[in-house]
Amino acid sequence: MKHSGITTLEQFIVDQQALYKDAKGSLSKIFRALELAAKIVNRDVRKAGLVDILGNNGTSNIQGEEQKKLDVIANEVFINALARCGEVCAVVSEEDDDVTWIPECADQKYIVAIDPLDGSSNIDVNASIGTIFSVYRRADSSKAPVLEDCLQQGKHQVASGYFIYGSSTMLVYTTGLGVNGFTLDDGIQEFCLSHPDIRIPEHGKIFSVNEGNFSEFPDGVKNYIHFCKESDKATNRPYGARYIGSLIADFHRNLLKGGIFIYPPTAKAPNGKLRLVYECNAMAFIVEQAGGKASTGTQRVMDVQPSELHQRVPLFIGSVNMVDQALAMLNQSLSS
Ligand code: AHG
Ligand code: MN
Ligand code: MN
Repeated sequence: MKHSGITTLEQFIVDQQALYKDAKGSLSKIFRALELAAKIVNRDVRKAGLVDILGNNGTSNIQGEEQKKLDVIANEVFINALARCGEVCAVVSEEDDDVTWIPECADQKYIVAIDPLDGSSNIDVNASIGTIFSVYRRADSSKAPVLEDCLQQGKHQVASGYFIYGSSTMLVYTTGLGVNGFTLDDGIQEFCLSHPDIRIPEHGKIFSVNEGNFSEFPDGVKNYIHFCKESDKATNRPYGARYIGSLIADFHRNLLKGGIFIYPPTAKAPNGKLRLVYECNAMAFIVEQAGGKASTGTQRVMDVQPSELHQRVPLFIGSVNMVDQALAMLNQSLSS
């Protein structure tokens, strides 16, 4: 009998288990926790207008950003699920000033960094939002975890991924064995393999940047944006401008179709707006595993040594040829 075509996330992880160094299944327990939390957040997102989760929470986070109710709810749901799974000793979150230590798991080796709700400004207007996560392993779990364990370079990530609560709900993740996408089948509440072995096209025709900040961009970025807008049939220009304002949504579209996303330094954000530990590193791991590139403009994102939890870096990420073109124009203007 021909087997059904459905591969659930559970089955996929078990199938891949043999390829992981971690044969004890710790990573699969962490993924089960992330999956459960995402299903709960997804349920709330799908009825946001009907329950009291829209709007501001009346609090703000360390970034000084107004916290939306769903930011706070998603943060609690993900941290509770990760604490409960028994494999995670600490969680770094955009929504918490400091690390959330999980004392009953102080002897465990995994650390998770999360942006529980990415694209908060889009919650109230029904545009795609998501959750971003990175998983790190401590070298030495014989002692209680310390801050340095949570400030590892992105190249040491064990896994990273994002959930996108969009026209469908998806999980896209990597453990260093390529990138795979799973779509939530609401009827059976299972994430099912829908985008096996995702590869980002080396070139694309989409550029994503918030041009409202154009006047504050470095000259090289301004030159690249002009380049994207020039008419040149031979190189498929002008490219299309697409900007949703949720990193996961802009990134996901470019991952599938090809394109470049840029969050450059601006006057009010000299290191850019996006956070290294729980936004940029996760996306950088995924894009590199899919054949793309992620740079701060001066170095590979995953080589940056974090100095503090909520550190920001500029981000140039997407199709390798487009990122290289943007970096060339950035460096050209710096050297002229
Ligand atoms: P978050 O909602 O987690 O704070 O992230 C919002 C980020 C990112 O999702 C998006 O790419 C960027 O903010 C948009 O910033 P601007 O509105 O300044 O363009
Ligand atoms: Mn975010
Ligand atoms: Mn967020």
